[in-house]
Amino acid sequence: MSCRVVVLLSGRGSNLRAIVEAQLPIDIVAVISNRPQAAALTYARACGLPVVVLDHTEHPDRTTFDALLAEKIEQHRPDLVVLAGYMRILGPAFIARFEGRLLNIHPALLPMFPGLKTHERALAEGVKIHGCTVHFVTIDLDHGPIVVQAAVPVRADDTLDTLAARVLAQEHRIYPQAIRWFAEGRLVNLHGRVNLKDDPASQSVLSPGI
Ligand code: GRF
Repeated sequence: MSCRVVVLLSGRGSNLRAIVEAQLPIDIVAVISNRPQAAALTYARACGLPVVVLDHTEHPDRTTFDALLAEKIEQHRPDLVVLAGYMRILGPAFIARFEGRLLNIHPALLPMFPGLKTHERALAEGVKIHGCTVHFVTIDLDHGPIVVQAAVPVRADDTLDTLAARVLAQEHRIYPQAIRWFAEGRLVNLHGRVNLKDDPASQSVLSPGI
């Protein structure tokens, strides 16, 4: 039986596209957006994926919204919930409910640069290596157990756009990979360290130039 996946997003949806195009052994049972105008929804609908819009601005507070969101997700009986550019903080009750089956992609090499504006901060700090991380979500924002990381070089002439594009290309590589490993039951979480059965070396990806 294939792994049932619910994708949560808010915007562009390039990671959703990468996940779909990877033809993984999964069933995307719902794409849920908290923003009715998310560009990703056009793509999801064109692919024939079931789309749910749950506009957070129509709900009084985070707790109420999170509870409703959790309920919507549960209706689809997911084995895995994938955050793909979901731009809202999830409350502790929500996270507890899905812990162990909630993945996120963050555009930095965690634990460096948690939070927003990661590429700006990487450039401002003058780091020479940057990247992205797929991790399980826990109540510590952007600090859950790491599944896979990809590193990219930061070049002297990089702008925000060139660096973001280089990182994004790696996101599109490692997110589908991490979801495949989850679906195959190959991720083993030992006291907060996630190891990949049989092939731990592939949990670190180095892009050309590193
Ligand atoms: C990505 O950079 C991801 O790392 C971050 O949000 C962005 C989503 O991009 N969490 P997209 O909507 O998948 O194109």
